[in-house]
Formats: sequence, structure tokens, C-alpha cells
Amino acid sequence: MKIQKIVSTPISGQKPGTSGLRKKTRIFMQPGYLENFIQSVFNAIGGAENKTFVVGGDGRFFNQQAIQVILKMAAANGAAKVIVGQSGILSTPAVSHLIRLNETNGGLILSASHNPGGIDEDFGVKFNGENGGPASESVTEEIYRNTKNIREYLIVEANDADLGRLGVQQLGEMIVEIIDPVSDYLQLMRTLFDFDCIRALFASGFTMRFDAMHAVTGPYARAILEQELGAEGGTVLNGEPLADFGGGHPDPNPVWAKPLVDLMMGDDAPDFGAASDGDGDRNMIVGRGIYVTPSDSLAVLAANAHLAPAYAGGLSGVARSMPTSAACDRVAEKLGFPCFETPTGWKFFGNLLDAGQVTLCGEESAGTGSSHVREKDGLWAVLLWLNILARRQQSVADIVDQHWREFGRNYYSRHDYEAVPVEAANRLMDNVIKTLPDLPSRISGELAVSKADEFSYQDPVDGSISRHQGIRILFEGGARAVLRLSGTGTEGATVRLYMEQYIASDEVRDVSAAQVLRPVRSAVLELAEFQLCLGRTEADVIT
Ligand code: G1P
Ligand code: ZN
Repeated sequence: MKIQKIVSTPISGQKPGTSGLRKKTRIFMQPGYLENFIQSVFNAIGGAENKTFVVGGDGRFFNQQAIQVILKMAAANGAAKVIVGQSGILSTPAVSHLIRLNETNGGLILSASHNPGGIDEDFGVKFNGENGGPASESVTEEIYRNTKNIREYLIVEANDADLGRLGVQQLGEMIVEIIDPVSDYLQLMRTLFDFDCIRALFASGFTMRFDAMHAVTGPYARAILEQELGAEGGTVLNGEPLADFGGGHPDPNPVWAKPLVDLMMGDDAPDFGAASDGDGDRNMIVGRGIYVTPSDSLAVLAANAHLAPAYAGGLSGVARSMPTSAACDRVAEKLGFPCFETPTGWKFFGNLLDAGQVTLCGEESAGTGSSHVREKDGLWAVLLWLNILARRQQSVADIVDQHWREFGRNYYSRHDYEAVPVEAANRLMDNVIKTLPDLPSRISGELAVSKADEFSYQDPVDGSISRHQGIRILFEGGARAVLRLSGTGTEGATVRLYMEQYIASDEVRDVSAAQVLRPVRSAVLELAEFQLCLGRTEADVIT
């Protein structure tokens, strides 16, 4: 088989510090663009020779073409074997599991997560390392350096692999193994949860709707919820993965999964509602009449995980990203295990999980996971909730309510200011950073600042330090505001403002988060001069 060395010029595009590349699909379709990134990954890990990889994606437009390119490049670079999900389908957590199960040298995931798909929308590729998690900072840096210096890439001239046919094929010297995307993942879930107990719950008439948002989790949810656990047919909504996700944003939050939330708030609501995103790593949990914020969900899971077989021995610890509410900190404190605060992004949980220091982790952006893989895992979170519901025989609303009465409640909200001119966003952040030393003496409206800093993280396992991870402003009386710039937006800058207010258990009232957070919001809008810097105070998306 002929190996071609194609001369190529360096690409720009990867944001330093991210393990992947996320761009408009048409950019990825330019000759050599995807190829340059893939070659840079192979170069960054010391070549692909005799190595094994997992490859799959969320089914969005260009998924299969990209996989064909990756297979031909892996063969040209001397890889021994690539394991591919049938029809190119693999969820992010399934890839993480397959890397670990088969002890491969890593995996490539084709997805732009919750961003829309299609020829005029977004595409992405990310590299996960041997532990199944997003590439480490050092590998990420090495990939980035390679994208800047690349001069050529290798690709074989060959026919496309048949991605639809299960089993082993040969691509030159390399083996391509096409596997069922669901079966190994399902097998893992069987070992974690009490499936008999969940089966009995569904058999007793418990009803659920899972919105797969026409993204990757459709086949997984149908196989697990409907076929394995006996949920009624029709439990899985929008279960067919589509190249454009049916035109929507496959982002499981009350904005983009509004039909499900509306159903759950209506008179005909089923007992339980859930959704997952494009590549299956995020989750949304909704009970009849109640939306559970991801921060609260993490706390409830931490408090109840012992009800599932895999976690029956208790948790070694939990971790949450800094902007995530401190609800799980209360659980950790009361139940007596450590709680770590990490920068935003899943890769920071990897070391803690590998070292056995935490069992559960999560982010306010709808990511929850555990030591079973090294990615957040949407369906896993849904199954853990189901296991808890089956054991406690209570509604979601009762469980959450009881949780607040026991641990207190962290009222929480995130406000996103999108497509902000980059300069304006930087000005806002820089201004606040400059005034940090003076903030603790400031009183804004009803609130006095007690502490303000820029979050720096020292990894407890390898000692590495990550600076500039967002601004924290603490107020007297248990309120906190966090400001940071998004690292994943594709247009201009996105300013994220996160707010929370802790209310002790005996004072928890049935009022909206917006109401409770009003004083925090006006204080931070004033202190950070939103009107002056951004020309507005209203956010685009509130979750
Ligand atoms: C967002 C979320 C963050 C998550 C990341 C990848 O990043 O806020 O929690 O880890 O997507 O899913 P951001 O755009 O805020 O940098
Ligand atoms: Zn995702």
C-alpha cells in the first residue's frame, strides 16, 4: 500500500491549553486542515508506530469522512490497530471506557460536544490519552507546538474502510476493528448499578422520558433504558442520531431542551426526565415539577451514591470545578470525605481520579462523572439517579427537598454574555483583577465584599500550578460571584457570571433562585462595571 507524504503548511486554530480543535465544519473540510491536526497528535505522542487507538464520534456532519482520513493516516504512521464504533458512532464516555478496557494508546473523538452540527455549523476533534481522559497539559502543549511547525503528513492511498460492517478489516498492515458502540459500555453500567432494582421500578409503572436530542446517546439510551431495563417504548425521545441534530443545539439545559422541561412541568409529566448532549458526556435531570441544577444534582448524587453497588463502600472524595456551587462541599463535610475545588474543565479531575483521591466529580455545566471512566458521563448520571430513585422510592422533588432541609441550599445561577467583542471582555476582566486588592472594603447595595481573588490551582497529585482560572468574589452572608471567560466559545468572547447564595437548612424557603440572587447580581454588575465595559447588563443565556 502506497504511503503518501504530503507537504503541508502549519495550521492555526487550536487554542493553547485545549486538547482538541473546534471550528466551523467548512474549515475542517479544507484540504489538509484535519490532516495537520491528526499528524500533530501522532507526532506529539512520539509517533503512532505499533500503537492502538479508539476512534469514534457523535454522528455529526463530516463524522464518517473524518474517520476515514484518520484511519488512513494511522495506517500510514504505522499504527497496529484502530477500534472504531459501527457507523462511526461512539459517545465520549464510551471512548474513554474503550481506551481503558483495551489498554490502547489513546483515542480520537470527533465532536463539537453540545454545539450545533452541519456543514455550516461546528465540528471538532479531541485526543484522549492512555488513562481515557482528555490529553494532559504537556501533551496538549506538544500538539499545539506541532500544529505550528508541521511540514508534512502521512496518509495511505487506499479504499475507505466499511464502517458499517462489524468485525475485523485490514487497511494495509493495520487492523481496523468495527465494534458495536453500545455493548461494552452497557456491560460496564451493569457492573456499577443495581439493574434488577431499576427494572423493578419501571415494572411498577414508573415513567420516564430521555431526550437524546438527535445526538449520540440515542442508541445507548434505547439499548439500556428500553431494552435492558424495561422502560416503555417511546421513553427515548429524538433517539436517531442526525448529522445536524435535527437543527437544534444538542445542549441539555432548560434553554435548548425546553420541550422536555415543559413536559416535566406540565400536568402529564412522567416521573423522571433526563437529557444528554451531542457526544453524550453532559446530562440534565428533571423531576416532575422540578428542574435539578447540575450543582444540586452532584450534591444529591454524592449524598446517595452508596445506594448503588459500585459506590456502596462510600466515596473516597468528591471534586467540583470552581464555579460549581458549594452544595457538594456541604455533603462532603457532613459525611466526612474530602472535597476538591478544581479549575473548569474535565482534565483537572483526571489526576485526582487516577490517584484514587476522588470517586465522584462534576461541573455546573451539566457534567457529572466518576472513577468508572475519565470523562463526564451523561447516561451514567441518569442511571445513578434511577438507582437512587429505585432504592429510595421517593419522587425527585421529595429527594431534593429533603436534601436541602438536611444540608441547606445553595441557590445558584449562571449568566452568559455571548459574542462579546474580545477587547471588551478582556477590559472587564482586567479591570476587576486590578481592583481585587481594594474590593474587600467595598459595599455594593446590600452586600459587603469579604474576599476577592483570582483562582489558582495547585494539583495535589503532580504539584503543577494553573493560574488565572477565574475571579472569585465572596460576600458577607454566604453569597459568591465568579467571573470567567469561556474557553470553548467560537464567536468573540463569552463572559460567564456565576452566582450563588447559601441559605442554611432551617431557613430554606420556596423562592426562586433569581429572587434570592438579585442582590448578588446587582452588586457584581456594579463592581465589575458591566454597563461600562460591555454596554449592557442583560445576559443572553441564563441557566
Ligand atoms: C464549558 C463549561 C465547562 C466544560 C467545558 C467543556 O467551558 O463551562 O464546565 O468543562 O465547556 O464541556 P467554557 O466555555 O466555560 O470554558
Ligand atoms: Zn459534550
